[in-house]
Amino acid sequence: MNVLGIETSCDETSAAVVKDGRGILSNVTASSLEDHKKYGGVIPEIASRRQLEFISAVVEEALDRAGVSLEKIDAVAVTNQPGLIGSLLVGISFARALSFARNKPLAEVDHIKAHVYAAFLSEEQPKLPAIGLVVSGGHTNLYLVQGPLEFKLLGQTLDDAAGEAFDKVARILGLGYPGGPAIDRLAAKTSPTALSFRCANLTGTFDFSFSGIKTAVFYHQQKKQDQDDCSTPEAAYAFQKSVVDVLTKKCLEACQKLKTKTLLVGGGVAGNSALRKNLRDIAQEHGIRVYLPSMSLCTDNAAMIAGLGYHVLRKNLLY
Ligand code: KG4
Ligand code: ZN
Repeated sequence: MNVLGIETSCDETSAAVVKDGRGILSNVTASSLEDHKKYGGVIPEIASRRQLEFISAVVEEALDRAGVSLEKIDAVAVTNQPGLIGSLLVGISFARALSFARNKPLAEVDHIKAHVYAAFLSEEQPKLPAIGLVVSGGHTNLYLVQGPLEFKLLGQTLDDAAGEAFDKVARILGLGYPGGPAIDRLAAKTSPTALSFRCANLTGTFDFSFSGIKTAVFYHQQKKQDQDDCSTPEAAYAFQKSVVDVLTKKCLEACQKLKTKTLLVGGGVAGNSALRKNLRDIAQEHGIRVYLPSMSLCTDNAAMIAGLGYHVLRKNLLY
């Protein structure tokens, strides 16, 4: 079964063809990121206009690269939430029109669950139940995953998402937008110092909080600037370490408490090199199988939408 996936929830316009929920035949993504950089964040009005400009060409390219004509597409899947409303509307309208005009079943898919589903696009299928962590620009959610469509929320951020904290701290440190990759790169070149920041632990829960650490970096940086002392790399390193430590610790605790040896990680922050290393280290130490999708499957992409869409369609007996 070939599913055409469409993802337009933010500044990426993505289309993919995925076979039987697993085999990625194509995954094409255009982005309006460059247009947003000068504003320090995504401008919804610009994002939705770019979605409109990109959508047809991106879908055509995805079909081309897959070597599959529209006739050979069995169903369409599209992100329906959460996201920027104008951007979502472009993808949903396009997918609904295509489904209606070509008489193809349509699955509307949750973007956050699709980030977890990215782990199922790997060669080896994850053994379930698993712990699923989504760390993106808008969400930090920890789930018990019992099936591709069976999710139980264990905890979430009470304020900023992990990616949002990376973006805001990068702005405080003058590193530009998007902040995650900039902090990741700088921290990788920096040696640890005595400087440290602490993330709220929220002990006894699987919840997170990242707004306190952002404020701590802000006051630290202000003090340093007043003293004309630039410690940006050290601050980036210490901030990242604290965020990575708390994410890793809660994943391990969740695996232990819910007695599972499988960990699925998705979302843009899952591309962070320090987080990937830490997760691999604890996984090895505790005999856990951790699934860390490639970077193009961590950030917003339509392959995860087509993959999860396949299961939605099967569940609803649409094929
Ligand atoms: O999943 P995603 O592409 O879009 C949303 O659904 O939000 O995630 C985007 C977020 C941004 O906040 C970005 O700064 C962060 O992921 N990000 C990273 C890295 N690459 C992207 N954060 C930390 N380290 C990275 N290497
Ligand atoms: Zn996302």
